[in-house]
Amino acid sequence: MKLIIRNNAAEGSLWAAHYIAAAINAKAARTSEPFVLGLCTGSTPIGTYNELIRMVRAGEVSFKNVISFNMDEYVGLPVDHPESYHSFMHRQLFDHIDEPAANIHILDGNAADLDAECVAYEEAIAAAGGFDLFLGGVGEDGHIAFNEPFSPLCSRTRVMTLTQDTREVNARFFGGNPEAVPAQALTVGVATVLSAREVVILAFGPRKARALRDAVEGPMSHYCTLSGMQNHPAGTIVCDEAAVGELKVSSYRYFKAVEAAENRL
Ligand code: GLP
Repeated sequence: MKLIIRNNAAEGSLWAAHYIAAAINAKAARTSEPFVLGLCTGSTPIGTYNELIRMVRAGEVSFKNVISFNMDEYVGLPVDHPESYHSFMHRQLFDHIDEPAANIHILDGNAADLDAECVAYEEAIAAAGGFDLFLGGVGEDGHIAFNEPFSPLCSRTRVMTLTQDTREVNARFFGGNPEAVPAQALTVGVATVLSAREVVILAFGPRKARALRDAVEGPMSHYCTLSGMQNHPAGTIVCDEAAVGELKVSSYRYFKAVEAAENRL
């Protein structure tokens, strides 16, 4: 895996947005096939989404031929609840870009048959041709999408019961009350994310430092599902100085040196 270390979240967000736009434009230049993009929620990707919105408005990239699949959604939360991931994505991205509504896919946490919804989601991803790029964030405990600690690294889209830790962390979006955070979510699996041809994970701020250390320096383990990235041929974690605070100095220097050397080529 690669680590792109920027001074702060704003610089990391710009890097990620420009990287995604370049990937969309590169595919558009060589084929009329759609670009299949995995997307995430959380506070972390907002800066990246803001820059992508600016780039769409400036004509620097278009989402007209992008098909997106979001990684997760709460179970039982009304779609129009302000904290549903449907609401979040429309507010933070889809309402401001040119992606056709028919190309937007988000898991239905209110489906009558949740298991069938998960199976259909995997089928729809495969029918679209699989992910060109998956953009993700990471939870404080190293979870990717809603793949909580001890989720199998071979997992696919399924129903997940959230840990108390995650409900407490996400309580800030629900009036500070962990009990108001839905107890379950639908989530793509670790293997669903890692099936993407390219994976870009954003990790900003000191609260992500432990997750980053476990994912980068620890063993590949279900304990920290982001560590599955170690086995991906084209995985990049975009982080800021605060998020690498728990890495060994030697690891930090290694990733900085690799990036500097590649920039010189
Ligand atoms: C939730 C989401 C994850 C996200 C994580 C971190 O658990 N399911 O996809 O990465 O929150 O959120 P934040 O970016 O707000 O720190």
